[in-house]
Amino acid sequence: MRRKVIAGNWKMNNDLQQSVNLIEELKSKLANKTLNCDVVICPPFTSLYEAKKIIDGSIIKLGAQNMFYEDSGAFTGEISASMLKSVGCEYVILGHSERRTIFGEKDEMINKKVRKAISQNLKPILCVGETLEEREKDVTEKVVKRQIEKGLNYVTPDEVLNVIIAYEPVWAIGTGKTATPEQAQEVHAFIRKLLASMYSKDFAELIPIQYGGSVKPDNAKELLSQKDIDGALVGGACLKADSFIGIIDAA
Ligand code: PGA
Repeated sequence: MRRKVIAGNWKMNNDLQQSVNLIEELKSKLANKTLNCDVVICPPFTSLYEAKKIIDGSIIKLGAQNMFYEDSGAFTGEISASMLKSVGCEYVILGHSERRTIFGEKDEMINKKVRKAISQNLKPILCVGETLEEREKDVTEKVVKRQIEKGLNYVTPDEVLNVIIAYEPVWAIGTGKTATPEQAQEVHAFIRKLLASMYSKDFAELIPIQYGGSVKPDNAKELLSQKDIDGALVGGACLKADSFIGIIDAA
């Protein structure tokens, strides 16, 4: 059985005080719950250190939204995997569509990041997904296949068990348009089959595949009940404790 992972991608939201307030609210509201899923929050870099102090001893885990693949050096503005580890991160989102489109990240660079994250014991959440244009051209599977094959290039079977895939159709991100549970399940099943062909069926069964794109408390249950949907990567709805917890409850 794969354990579901609900991760909140805060994006560029919440300064330090706002972060502290939100995490304290989440922590206290989750304190008495017995959960069937893992809960991860990914605040901005500037809040990670304080976030770790607050979540210590709770079930909430910490992730970052990006990192660079070099260890250190002249890379102005970048953050390394070991820096993320040093403030208590266990996860890192890589290849988010906003990184790909706004910051021009390509599969090759994302692959270097994935491998560096794994080598530093960070679990990469590798994001993949098609644009609306690509869906309309009926190339969704082709795009997702390329992103996964290139993103996981040189990643060994042992290493891939530390990876989470997040399928996020770009047209569903922040738009209020969600893929139907059937549309999402279809792509998730395709991804699982692809992973089986790249690794093995047994390994593919162990890799969590999250869905992301306008997940809300009222659509989470149906999405998360699909056979191959193993959690959610949540943007907008993770910025309020009650809506994020609504999604956790659905899981
Ligand atoms: P959204 O974002 O939930 O606001 O659509 C999801 C994401 O970008 O990870």
